[in-house]
Amino acid sequence: MLTDVLSRLRCQWCLVVLMLLVVEASPAFGAESQGMASGRSHYDAKCASCHGASGKGDGWRARLSWLKLPDFSDSASMQARTDDYLFRLTKQGGKSGMPSFGLELTDLEIKDLVVHIRSFAKAPEPPKPVGTAR
Ligand code: HEC
Repeated sequence: MLTDVLSRLRCQWCLVVLMLLVVEASPAFGAESQGMASGRSHYDAKCASCHGASGKGDGWRARLSWLKLPDFSDSASMQARTDDYLFRLTKQGGKSGMPSFGLELTDLEIKDLVVHIRSFAKAPEPPKPVGTAR
């Protein structure tokens, strides 16, 4: 009797795990909701030591070294960078100290990081007049 209940419980448990795996593995789900969360946790774990918690380039490794870091919260300079450039630089590394992350992060994870980096410099968008040609 007891073993019966136990084995049924275990079976349900397996189903839950299976469902989670399916949901996790489904590309649509990952692409949509992983987004900011994974970008942020990867940033905090792998980038903040140099780039700083708020992207200003004031992480402890930057302060203890000669590295010159960009300021991700400077919206003017960030607007001059394309997503493609930020992606490539993160994947392949830079010329003066930026390590390459192409081996430890997937393309999707790097894209999430680019979104996260951009979030440091949310420039106040000028209000767009409705219905007028630009
Ligand atoms: C060891 C310190 C260090 C770490 C860790 C680091 N970076 Fe960098 N990063 C730099 C330096 C130094 C530069 C500027 C010089 C260069 O291009 O090499 C830079 C530049 C960049 C740039 C180019 C910005 C611009 O405006 O040109 C991006 C994007 C970037 N890093 C993203 C990241 C991401 C994402 C991570 C974490 C996955 C990360 N970095 C981790 C040191 C670091």
